[in-house]
This record gives sequence, structure tokens and C-alpha cells, in this order.
Amino acid sequence: MNVEVDARGAERLLGRHPWVFKNQVLRGPHRPGLFPVIHRGRFLALALWNPDAVLAVRAYAWSEGEPWAVFRQNLERALAAREPDRRARPQGARRLVHAEGDFLPGLVVDEYAGHLVVQTNVAALEDRRPALLEALLQGLSPRGVLFKNDSRGRRQEGLPTYVEQAHGRVPEELWIEEGGVWLLARPYAGQKTGAFLDQRENRVYAGELAAARRPRRALDVFGYQGGFALHLAPHAGEVTVVDSSAEALAAARRAAAKNGLENLKTLEANAFDFLKREARKGPAYDLIVLDPPSFARKKSDLERAYAAYKEINLRAMRMLAPGGLLLTASCSYQMREEHFYAMLRDAAGDARRALRVVAKRGQARDHPVLLNVPETAYLKFAVLEAVG
Ligand SMILES: C[S@@+](CC[C@H](N)C(=O)[O-])C[C@H]1O[C@@H](n2cnc3c(N)ncnc32)[C@H](O)[C@@H]1O
Repeated sequence: MNVEVDARGAERLLGRHPWVFKNQVLRGPHRPGLFPVIHRGRFLALALWNPDAVLAVRAYAWSEGEPWAVFRQNLERALAAREPDRRARPQGARRLVHAEGDFLPGLVVDEYAGHLVVQTNVAALEDRRPALLEALLQGLSPRGVLFKNDSRGRRQEGLPTYVEQAHGRVPEELWIEEGGVWLLARPYAGQKTGAFLDQRENRVYAGELAAARRPRRALDVFGYQGGFALHLAPHAGEVTVVDSSAEALAAARRAAAKNGLENLKTLEANAFDFLKREARKGPAYDLIVLDPPSFARKKSDLERAYAAYKEINLRAMRMLAPGGLLLTASCSYQMREEHFYAMLRDAAGDARRALRVVAKRGQARDHPVLLNVPETAYLKFAVLEAVG
């Protein structure tokens, strides 16, 4: 059985973009699964197929083979790439499988100190969960495996949502080590699979910057469980984590205690109100982190999102003492890199501040970016220094 696409669908696949939409499909099997994709009798790719989804075809290989065997090979390749990091940091957390970025659409596997949290977000993988579990057990010998299948993506695919322990035991909370700092991951109750792993390298980098600059007063705004603040605090006078979630802030305080840090404070507040209030007080901070949630989930949100990103960045820029650093992120794919830097330029002009670009960074390397698939590059992270 094949999926047959029209000329537009074929052009996308030939250009090595993995996604073909339902209106570019001529015919295909009535059930979801893994199938070859063809155009006018010619093989194009192997893909996950869902006849009922708008995003009907997700390709994962461009040469012929038995579809499931090739998917398994891609999985083995992804796991092998993370093996050196697994060996070097057994108590660490990392992304083992990053969906399209690893040519494994619909599949996310994160590891927290030897425990796996798995998300299967597409209908084509639903019946393959036992085989996937077996492959993960064989390749990784984890202490526990949790299927955290409660994503919005699953609802869009018409799949039920659930969270289910599939092997061993995955505790409610796990301490993970990141660049010498202990962070708390909460696989069941926490956001994403339990922590924001895409900012891992940026958090460690923030700690290095703080070690070099020794900020007196620092802020971690939209701080969640204080991921950035915990890296800053050993090198700062004091750090305040601002977040609207009391639960996340309680976790930040527990992590501070675990790391023996007494200079980490928390503040439950709406970050927009907080920044508005603080900006009126003038340039009082030496380092500010802004890591907001995505303000633009779809293209039509972009204008409103641009204004929201600009507002928080403009206020943070006004709050920077001379020589102070702004570490600012956007995790929204819709806010492309060019929009993000245009917004920062715009904000700096309106804030009447001159800022030097210290670093332009993105998501952690275990969240691979595909050149042909701009959707895989979603996290922007800029470090700016107030010079005037
Ligand atoms: C991307 S996460 C931050 C991740 C964190 N920097 C880390 O490295 O683990 C965004 C955080 O913003 C918080 N948040 C969302 N809207 C908010 C608002 N209006 N005011 C304050 N916090 C907000 C969420 O609770 C979430 O913890």
C-alpha cells in the first residue's frame, strides 16, 4: 500500500521537507501507519500517514526500505548520537529523540537521570508503542519509562490523552544534574516532559557569564523552577525568580536549598505587571533573563506576539545598569529569527539604550535543527550588553 501525493506534495518531499498536507494527497490507505509515498508511480519517501489529519504525511526517509525497519534504524542513530553524553552525565537530563529533527516525526524521548519520558504524538505510532518500548529498553536499559501522552498534538491527531507508566518506576520528582547544579524535574505534573531541556546549554552558559561578571542583582523572569537562577545564584549577590506559578516557585525554593543557595528569592507575579512596575524604578539590575512561554502559536498571533515580546524586552532594557546583561529568549517558531532581532532592535531604540550583541544562540544541540525544515529551529536566545 502506498500514499500518492500531487505535484505540490511531491515537490515538498523532493526538497526534503517532510510534511505534506491532506489537500496535496491524491489517495492513501484508510488507516494510519508507515507507508511509502509515491508520485506518478515514482518512490519519493517513507512516511508516517494519518488519513484524518490535516498534516497527513510526515516523511522520515528518502530511500526505499521496509518502513518500520528504517524507522528503527533512525531511532538507533538518534540514541547512538546521545550515548557519549549519557555516559558522561548519568545523573543528567537530555533529549534522546527530537521528532523531525532526528527523522523520527511524532516521537519525543527525554531522559531524566536514567528514566525515560516518551511522547508519541501521531496516530501512525499508536500501535507501535510496544515495539518502541522494546527498542528503548534494549538500547538504553532505563530504570523506568513513562508515556506522557497528554499533548495538544495528540488531540489534533484525534488520539486519546493519558499518562501511563510503561516500565519500572518513574518517580513524581527527579533531581537532575546540569553543569554542577541540581534541578528538579517533574515528569507528571511539570510542563513539557518535566523540564525545559531546550534551554539546557543556555542555562549553563548563563552561569559562565555570571561567573565572569559577578552581577550584584539579577532577575530570572518567567523563571519556572528557577532553571536559570540556580546557575546564576552561586556567582551573584542576589537573584529573584519571577513566575505566575506558585507550584513552580516552590520547586525553585527547594532546588535552592538542595544547592545550598541562600540568595535565591521567588516572587509570584504576572511578569508584565512586574516589569512595568520595576522599569519605573530605573536601571537597577546587572543581569536579567527573559524566558517567556510562546506568545505566538499560529501565524495570525504574530502581530500581538511581537508587541508582547517588545513590551517585556523594552522594560527589561530600561532596567539594566550600565554594563548589565539581558539574556532574552523566544520559543515561538512563528517569531522567526529575523522577527526576533527586529523586535529587539525596535525595543532598544524605544528604550533609548545602546546594546552590544554578546551572543546569538538557539536550542540545545540535542534538539537538532534541519536546514530544510525551518520549523525545527524554534528557540532564539540573545545575550545583549547595555553599553549606553
Ligand atoms: C518557557 S518557561 C520558562 C523555563 C525556565 N526558564 C527554565 O529554564 O526552566 C515559561 C514560564 O513562564 C511562566 N509564565 C507564563 N505566563 C506568565 C506571566 N504572564 N507572568 C509570569 N510568568 C508566566 C510559566 O509558568 C512558565 O513557568
